Parts: sequence; C-alpha cells; structure tokens
Amino acid sequence: MRVTLGGIMRFSSFEVASGDQGPEVRVWGDADVLVVSAPLPGVLRARLFPEARANTLGFPRLSAKRSFALRPDLPMGAPLTATEEGSEVLIVGDGLSLRLDRVTGAWRVLTGSGESQRVLIQAHSWSGEAPTQRPALDAERFNLRRTRLNLDAPDGAMYLGFGERVGPLDKRGMHLTFWNTDCFPHHTETDPLYVSVPFTTVVQSGQAHGVFVDEPWRMEVDVARAHPNEVRWASSGPELDVYVLAGPRPADVLRRYADLTGYAPMPPLWALGAAQSRWGYRTADDLRAVIQGYRDRNLPLDSVYVDIDHMDAYKVWTVSCANFPDLSAFVKEAGAQGVKLVPIVDPGVKVEAGYDVYEEAARGDHLVRTARGDVLVGEVWPDPAVFPDFTRPEVVTWWAGRHKFFADAGIQGQWNDMNEPACFSLRQPRETEGKTLPYDARHGTRTHLEVHNAYANGMSEASRLGYAKFSPNIRPWVLTRAGYAGIQRHATVWTGDNTATWSHLALSLPMIQGLGLSGIPFAAADVGGFAGDTTGELLARWYQAAVGYAFLRNHAALGTADQEPWRFGEAVTDVIRAALELRYRLLPHLYTLAHAATRTALPVLRPLALHWPADEDAAREDTQYLLGEGLLVAPVLRAGHRRRLVYLPAGRWAAVFNLSQFGPVHAGGQHVVADAPLDTLPLYLRAGTALPVTEAAPHTTSACWARLTWLIHAAPDGFVGQLYEDTGDGHAGGRLTRLVGERQGERLTIRREADGSAGTFEQRETLHVLGLGPVREVQGAASFATESGVLRLTLPAHWQTVTLTLEPGEDGADAGVDANPTA
Ligand code: GLC
Repeated sequence: MRVTLGGIMRFSSFEVASGDQGPEVRVWGDADVLVVSAPLPGVLRARLFPEARANTLGFPRLSAKRSFALRPDLPMGAPLTATEEGSEVLIVGDGLSLRLDRVTGAWRVLTGSGESQRVLIQAHSWSGEAPTQRPALDAERFNLRRTRLNLDAPDGAMYLGFGERVGPLDKRGMHLTFWNTDCFPHHTETDPLYVSVPFTTVVQSGQAHGVFVDEPWRMEVDVARAHPNEVRWASSGPELDVYVLAGPRPADVLRRYADLTGYAPMPPLWALGAAQSRWGYRTADDLRAVIQGYRDRNLPLDSVYVDIDHMDAYKVWTVSCANFPDLSAFVKEAGAQGVKLVPIVDPGVKVEAGYDVYEEAARGDHLVRTARGDVLVGEVWPDPAVFPDFTRPEVVTWWAGRHKFFADAGIQGQWNDMNEPACFSLRQPRETEGKTLPYDARHGTRTHLEVHNAYANGMSEASRLGYAKFSPNIRPWVLTRAGYAGIQRHATVWTGDNTATWSHLALSLPMIQGLGLSGIPFAAADVGGFAGDTTGELLARWYQAAVGYAFLRNHAALGTADQEPWRFGEAVTDVIRAALELRYRLLPHLYTLAHAATRTALPVLRPLALHWPADEDAAREDTQYLLGEGLLVAPVLRAGHRRRLVYLPAGRWAAVFNLSQFGPVHAGGQHVVADAPLDTLPLYLRAGTALPVTEAAPHTTSACWARLTWLIHAAPDGFVGQLYEDTGDGHAGGRLTRLVGERQGERLTIRREADGSAGTFEQRETLHVLGLGPVREVQGAASFATESGVLRLTLPAHWQTVTLTLEPGEDGADAGVDANPTA
C-alpha cells in the first residue's frame, strides 16, 4: 500500500512491495526513486534512480535488473518495515537500517540499535542527468558521469579492495576507473587494469563494513582525492545499485560479499603446483623439452601452459597440426610425467568462410554488433576477428559447447585471455577507450558501455559449464585476465602483463592482496615478469615471494630472454629449486587455505589488514603477507638486499626461515630485522599455530598426504591447526582435521579431530613442537625426543590423542633458538 507523506518535499510517498528478489520498500519522489531491500542478513541494498522519470516512459514502473555479479541461487530477501519519522523515512531490514531525509535526499545506513547504533555510510547527495545524445565524439556523446553518489569519507577511514589496482592497499587518495583494459605494459601507476570490482571494505578504528556498487557500466570512484572527505561514485548508467555490508571484521564483510556474489570453487591440487609458461612455446616438442628440463634438474612441475601458437592461424578451438600432430597423445604423454597441459583461449573469432566456429557464430547471431547493426569486425591475433557476445546467456551456452574440443583431448585447465575484450583496431573505425570495442557497440539490446566490464564473466562461466558437461568427474581449472564482480565463481585471476622489474615484483603483493579483498581469493602474478628480460636474482626472489601465491606460474612474453628456472646458472637454479620445494612442502597448508577460501571467501594470500585491521602498521603493510592467521611471509623485494625489515603483529612469532629451522622468538607489535641472503625466505610462525607440511615431490598426486609433519609453535595455553584432505581432484568428499593442543598446568593434551573421510591410506605423522620446555612424560606417541628446545613426536597410525606431562614452572616460550624442526 502506498503511504503518502505530508509536506512538499523531494520524496512524497513510499510503499512496501514485492520485487523480483523479495520484499522491497520503494520511496517515490517527483523525479527520483529509492528502492531498498534486505537481500541477506547484514546486507542492505539501495537502488538509486535519480532520473527515473527522465529514463523510463512508464514511470513509476522500474525495470527489472539482471546482475552479472550476484550468484544465481540467491534466496529471496527478508521483510522490511518503513515508517515516517519527522522529515525522515526509516527503513529497517535484516540487521541494518536506512534513514532517508525527505527534503535533501541524503541517507544513512546504520547498524545495531539504541546505544550501540553506528552509522556505516552517509550519502549526502545523489543525482543524475538525462543521457546526452549528441552525435559528436564518443566520449562526448555519452555522458560518462550520468549518475552520481557522494558518500562521506570520515577522517582515518581506509578503503581496501576496488578490484585489481596498483598502489598501496588503502586506496584513499586515488581516483579509480572501472573499465577493463588491456594495457601492455602496465606500470606502477596505471589505472584502470583488466579487472573491475566496484567493492570496497572500509576500515575505520578497526571496524569494517563494505560498499558494493553493482554496476557493470563504466564507472569512476574518487576515493577522497578531489574532495578529501568524500568518496564520489559516478556511473555512465541510469541508476546506482548500492549494497552496504555489515562487519564488524573485514572477514565478515568478505563473507557477506561472497554470500551475495558467490564463493570460488575448489581448484584441483595440480593447479597449485609449479607451472611453466611462455609466449613462444610453439610445438609439442618445445613443451617436451620444458618438461625434460624440469625433470633433469629435479625441479617440481605440475603443468605447462601453451600460448596462441598452438592454434592454426590463431583460430580459436583449433590446433595447428604441424605444431601438435596429436594433441590427445601429447596430453597423455605429459600426464604420464605428472604434467597437465593448459592452453590459452581468446574470444576473438577469425572471420573465414568455412571455419565452423565463425560460421556457427554468424548463423546463430552470437556476435557483438555495431551501433548500426552490422557485425562488428576488429583485429586481435586473428585478423579480421569478430566477438562472441558473452553477455547473452544463449551465447554462453554455445561457447560452453565448444569446450568439448579440449575436454575430449583430456585437457582439464584453460587460460582465458584478451577478454576485456581486447581489440587492436576496428574495421569500422570509431573512437574507443583503450584497445577495445566502442561504447555504442551492441550486445543485444544493451550498449557496450553498459556491459563491457562483464564480458569476461560470461566467457569464463562458459568454460566452467563446458568442463562440467564434458568432463564431469574432474575439477576444471579456469584462469582469466579480465573480470567483473562475481568472476570468482568462474575463474582464477592472474594480474596480466607485468614486467620483469623489481617494482613489479613488489607490486604483485598489494595487487594480489587487493584482489583477495575484492572477493577473488585465488589470484597470482606471472613469476619472473612477463615483459622484459628478467635476471637470475630477480627470478629467484620472485619464486620466493610466490611461495604463497594462490598458483605459481612462470610466464614470459615473446622475444624476451628465456626465464625457465635453470637459465641463470646452477646457483640460481638451486635457490629456485629450494623455493619450489618449499612450496610443495607447504601444499597441505595451501590446499587447506584453498578449501577455506571456498567456504569463507578468505583469500589464500592474505594482507595483514584482514586479521589486524586495528593495528595501523599491520593494516598498511603490503610487502609481507599471511598464509592463514599464523604464518607470515616476508620476501625480499629489492635488488641486492640481504636483509629486510619485517613487521610482526600482536602475538609471539618464531622465525622459521625456509621452514628449516626454528630461529628466535619475537614479541609482536614491532619491526624486526630479518637476515635473508639470496637462498633465504623469512617466515614466521605465530604462537598458537600448528602448520601441516609434507615432503617435497616432483609433482602432486593426491591431497591425502602420506607423510605429514605439524610444525607447532605452542602458546602458553596450547595451539590449533587445520588440515583439509581429499583426492586432489574430482568431487568426492574430503576430510577436515583439527589438531588441538590444550595446556592445563603441566599437562598438554594433543587431539586430532577428523571430520569426513578422505579414503583409506596410511599417514605417517610427526609433530615438531616449539615452546614447551622440558618434557617429563609422553603418552600415546610411538617415540619422542627433544633437541634444542623442540620436541619431536612420531605418532602411530590413526592416532587420536597424545598427552604430555611437562616439567613444572616452565612455559618454554623462548626456547628453540637455532633448533632444527624438520631435519
Ligand atoms: C596477452 C596475455 C599474455 C599472452 C599474450 C599472447 O598479452 O596477457 O599472457 O602471453 O597475450 O597470447
């Protein structure tokens, strides 16, 4: 029922109605409309239509929306109430409320009630303009700042996320554009890049909330740069679809964002192993030589990637017979050596009579068109090329069907590139923003300006659907360069064409961390750098820094110097081998983090800000990262440096450099100096943490670890660790094990609690515990010994409990200097 409000004000009535996604409150003004709903607990959605009257003939009817970001199975929203309170309309949803000032249109979103009520966001103005339709240059013809929203930016608030960005973790002081761009090469100042996620986690005094503006339209956000106390959003579209997500911790915001836009699927274990790629590997023999190069030097390897030269004349979904005479046979041969093949797929389809992909696309009306209605023709690697319109569901289905080609050859991983989409030139010349399609290109009834940013989502969704259909028993691995919010449901992101420079090595960490804070938990940069020639030292340090990347791929551009791990002499090869072995030893932990990411949206490689948002030094630290809450990685990111400063957040941290030796224990909340000669990666284990590691291997096999060591840094009250195991691929259930150590007085009880099953296999487990002091008695272990303050327990198969009796009065917190936990 419509409630008419008194007085002459900007908003004159409201109604509680039922929308496509459940109940909603619509507040009507003369020109503008605000629609509020409560899609999930702790999430409030405010759709702002500042020029609803100018934009719809049927005002007050609002058009339905199809979001590219939201998960398709989002439940219906919760009921809301709306009441008039003086000159305000108060709307109460599920955990959050919104107050709209009827005079000015300003609105606030609040959490809690009574004393504990807190303002999360304050929108002091929003406005829109009718679209301009001047037949001039594209940039003028389209009003790129058609709809605007200004939010307060309180002093000291940090703005994390916003997708793939350069710069520090806190984007305050930056002006950001959402327009997926193929920028070769990008620099440490380049904006925008390939991925647009208009989602930020705002951290203020250690408390977090999120703002997500679900608009694939070209947008900009000025993060308190032009106006120091305002965040100004501007969209080229007719509305702003704003979600406010409650905290209070950054992790809560991420979880709510994933509840809304979906969780990433579990990657196969092999995709976490070492990968070698290069634009320039042309033939099956080239790849054979790469695999041999790894095996000859005892370097672990799980996959090789093959770039555009595998195709016949750059025709997507073909393979050059000369280069790969028998693709399936090669996939099998590599598979027998523990190596998967990951081919590249580009969206541009070559225009060629008789080429079935092109003919099907043209016949099925699957292609992007020009404003005049002709099929749009451009140039990418194939020339001329046309572009499948992945923003339409029927085209996604068609493209998914094409994956049979690779699935039948036994391929399980795919690398989707150039999907901004990149287009080097146009046959029907037109001004474009970056190397892409013009704003007015047509995607069915929509313009490119509206759906450009979402193009890659449909392409990767098709890959996932394709492999699910043609290879239902495996977990596909899909990598993408471009994406919009929600891309995490379909693909993993790599950060595109970086360069082989120290600044890009350092940049990789805030970029990956920022992607993680944008709901993309699996992200990585090309190891060694794509453009330019790397050096041995840079490559070695890059491998060390990448020990905790969600995936680890060495990739380089055509024409650059070779950068396989052995190209810089034996000393560098040895350092890289050690880094790769470290990676493989860490796989039980990394795989557990990957599994956690699929349930909690916490990224594999985490910024300190995620767990210590109230600690300014931690929250702004982007030269280090966390793998879980208890393992801190501090790689050397500068040429020639053999020491670095490390910030340790609250707690006690034991140095476990290279995971080979427990070193000194430091109190947190301070910087310490780490000695890191070229062969050393500084790592720190937090007191209270149990870390599962295994032995290095030439390649992965299954994620049921036959040999497992828990590296434990015991806190005075005990420790806890987690391990997720399964077959490493496929969809069979897994087993989650919690290792819990509880200390009461002189007694320490260690329990292993397993949930689920991971098949039957014999696991040999050992525990290496730092921080206990002398042990008087042990029950339940096969054997034990203490050396230099580290207790080593060997456990019988299927053990469940071990009980230790410790010498009274010792908490052992500082024991273990120079002890060796793993030898
Ligand atoms: C793009 C990709 C790069 C690839 C190249 C050739 O630049 O980002 O990774 O090697 O195209 O396909």
